[in-house]
Amino acid sequence: MNRKICTILSGIMLFLLGCEDKKSSDIIKFGLSADYPPFEYYENGELKGFDVELGRIVAQEMGKKAEFEDMGFNAALVALNVDSIQAVISTVTSTPERRKNYDLSRCYYTESLAIVYNINEPYKTATALSKDVKVACQLGTTMEFWVKKHATDANLITMDKYPDMIEALKADQIDCVVMDTVQAKGFCAKNPGLGYSVIEQTDAEGYAIAFKKNSPLKDGANAAISKLEKNGWLAKLKAKYQL
Ligand code: ARG
Repeated sequence: MNRKICTILSGIMLFLLGCEDKKSSDIIKFGLSADYPPFEYYENGELKGFDVELGRIVAQEMGKKAEFEDMGFNAALVALNVDSIQAVISTVTSTPERRKNYDLSRCYYTESLAIVYNINEPYKTATALSKDVKVACQLGTTMEFWVKKHATDANLITMDKYPDMIEALKADQIDCVVMDTVQAKGFCAKNPGLGYSVIEQTDAEGYAIAFKKNSPLKDGANAAISKLEKNGWLAKLKAKYQL
């Protein structure tokens, strides 16, 4: 009798485990850093943006459901390698260095770098970022790598979220912020005391979805992005966000 109960219980356990496996493989959990409008941001407490819409449709094209976790940019890339998420969709610039460490999808948007400053104290070139100039950017981003390479004398301050850097800039706690151009344009439009200058065009590289090395999801995501390019969906999404 006891043995029978045990067999039935193990059967139920195996069945439940099977369900759990199926359930988690039906979902793509995307990590992101929701501080970067118009790609990922909150509006009235709701997660919105170009990347959120793209993540949803890419998952749908792959027969899966998208979930998102706002975890910070650097933390999201780290989370990929410990499997707590399956992808990062967060304006991840595809660089040769990153391509060594992650699987990156085909690019879906091309971007360049800009410096944001108070208009009465502009910093327009890399050489303007001289000794003692306090330059802020987000930890683990291409901006951090850029400042370390091109503005070696500057006082680099890495912070977690771009809106906090904008507030610090307005309060004169820092001198300028380095970020991608389209986001710089958006923050300046909302804050009339701020201006920006494009410092580097990155034509060859753009935003890609990041996966762990050898992820089985990359091919499906690439097929979905190609399809969305061909059928005009991606162009419509760009127009929606005025990109
Ligand atoms: N494109 C830059 C990079 O890949 C910045 C990304 C920051 N993204 C964000 N959602 N805060 O490093």
